Amino acid sequence: MAITISFINQKGGVGKTTSSVNTAAILAYKGYSVLLVDMDPQANTTGYYDMYDSEKASIYNVMLRGARVMEVVKQTPVKGLFILPSVLDFSRAELELSQILMRQEYVLKDALSFVSDSFDYILIDCPPARNKVTINALTASDYVVIPTIPDHFAIESITSMGELLNQVKCGVNPNLQVLGILITIDEITSNKKAYKEVLQTGELLPCFDTAIRKNTKLQEAINAHQPINLYDKSCSGSKDYSAFVDELLNKTGSTSGF
Ligand SMILES: Nc1ncnc2c1ncn2[C@@H]1O[C@H](COP(=O)(O)OP(=O)(O)O)[C@@H](O)[C@H]1O
Ligand SMILES: [Mg+2]
Repeated sequence: MAITISFINQKGGVGKTTSSVNTAAILAYKGYSVLLVDMDPQANTTGYYDMYDSEKASIYNVMLRGARVMEVVKQTPVKGLFILPSVLDFSRAELELSQILMRQEYVLKDALSFVSDSFDYILIDCPPARNKVTINALTASDYVVIPTIPDHFAIESITSMGELLNQVKCGVNPNLQVLGILITIDEITSNKKAYKEVLQTGELLPCFDTAIRKNTKLQEAINAHQPINLYDKSCSGSKDYSAFVDELLNKTGSTSGF
């Protein structure tokens, strides 16, 4: 049975896509079979691997047109890493999900249940929103990672995410666990340091020890359509995401590298 992890934050630009793409690739490199699910209509995860195609079936067809996950999944250039792509049209999902009469929150979970034995990890890159699409991701997940920039807005969005997670736990998924806040785009400025320290107390929600330092190589890797561990394995971005994956494997009870 796959372990399913959502990367969520209602704020955009905090590193959800960067974190889910690179975590998925590092897990695949370690030998795990990984499905990366793009739930954002902006389709940045799909575009990362240059796989955007508005004509081809996508998460939209899986969630709202009854397509089977395995018919839609594509192999990425990374061995062991598969992607369930998104499209701009997926923005219609919000309205269409609200028109479904029964099990609105379970649409993704039900669809993924058919492929759960085919993967070790299913990682979900969520949209920057507290909406039905995000709730579907959380209902389908065992764990949550919250990529967060340590700044003025972080505390507010973490508090709001905490409330949403509690609602999902009480309503549809009592087993959902927060693995932690993942500090991203970390810099040594006094302002960021102060917010980082607040987040690392774990008083709001648990926080990973590893923080992802600001590193332009992570941006360059997108242009090359390569995950950071293939683009430049010695850069700080690659080292930080590797350390994060080791921490994540520890917390999810898996052993690194089999
Ligand atoms: N650690 C980092 N260092 C430098 N740039 C980063 C880092 N993490 C993310 N970025 C850049 O920040 C922008 C937003 O990241 P992204 O992962 O797309 O956020 P989200 O998916 O939350 O909207 C992108 O241009 C990405 O390349
Ligand atoms: Mg994104």
